[in-house]
Amino acid sequence: MDQNLASQLKSIEDKVASELKQCSDLDALQKIKAYFLGRKKGKLTQLIKLIPSLSINERKILGPKINQTKNKLLTLFQEKEKAFASSNVKSFFDPTLPGEKPIYGHLHPITQVCYEAEDIFEKMGFEIVEPFEIDDDFHVFETLNIPQGHPARDMWDTFWTENNFIPITHTSAMQNRILKSVKPPIRAIVPGRCFRHEATDARHEHTFYQIEGVYVDQNISLADLLGTLLSFLEAFFQQKLKYKIQPSYFPFVEPGLEFLISCVICKGRGCATCGHSGWLELIPCGPIHPNVLKMGGVNPEKYSGFAWGMGLDRLVMLRFAIEDIRLFHSGNLRFLEQF
Ligand code: FA5
Repeated sequence: MDQNLASQLKSIEDKVASELKQCSDLDALQKIKAYFLGRKKGKLTQLIKLIPSLSINERKILGPKINQTKNKLLTLFQEKEKAFASSNVKSFFDPTLPGEKPIYGHLHPITQVCYEAEDIFEKMGFEIVEPFEIDDDFHVFETLNIPQGHPARDMWDTFWTENNFIPITHTSAMQNRILKSVKPPIRAIVPGRCFRHEATDARHEHTFYQIEGVYVDQNISLADLLGTLLSFLEAFFQQKLKYKIQPSYFPFVEPGLEFLISCVICKGRGCATCGHSGWLELIPCGPIHPNVLKMGGVNPEKYSGFAWGMGLDRLVMLRFAIEDIRLFHSGNLRFLEQF
């Protein structure tokens, strides 16, 4: 029994060693391991199962031998597994493959265009002022020559908080603070988010952006207003533009005007974007009303100025040929990833 078992153990060890030499993958290794050490039918397991049937003396001699063989096999299998693991790491690393592209977010198209517009105005000498997103009746209406009960309030009257504050309906709400904050000459722009109680459509959102402009100095005329807006738009659209103005109405400018440019899409020939007119109605503006200057502590006898309130979303739509303003806040990645 002793001799027989000893030679069986030796033959198992030899077989395992020679099979492991030829074994070239982890699957094959698992099969060899199961063949010799499998719980039910493993060749060595069957010998281990014999131990209880041996006499006490045989057990004392043979038990440790069987265990030694078992430990030897386990060590051989472990070494082979380690060898596979390290060679797998090597083959996994291929330095010729292009690196994985990390997924970065990026600025929203409105923010991109806003920064671009800010850069142009800064080069023209304008300072950037941030608006209050929630403001009071005094700044949103009163200081803009729109007292309580004035019919023009209907044009902008919108959401109110319970304690009488207003998510700003227009960036003009900052005009009074700007006029009070520095002595003329004043050149400031106010890029900001506005809120209106709108029935939304492709051109109107309840939340949108404006860039307000305020310019005050001595001897300022309409020519300065037109020149400023045209210079900005030509720099922004990188092309020569035709312009015209038409009358409009805002209680805080006199006269109220709309600034139009030749369509940047069809170059004035007529297309769907300009309603086949060849013109884009782009910037409501006008010389600042003397009452607004007075309320801002600026003497209208000595100073004059102009203001505008341009829709930023509209600029972005023209820049990227976007047809529906509602895409901006849709959170649709297929849309956003294009910019
Ligand atoms: C105003 O808000 C005036 N405060 C502008 C102004 C400032 C005039 C200074 C004179 C002097 P209006 O309501 O027209 O005006 O809005 C100005 C621009 O904001 C519009 O031309 C349009 O481009 C944009 N706008 C207005 N409402 C919406 C809306 N619901 N969705 C998207 N853009 C809008």
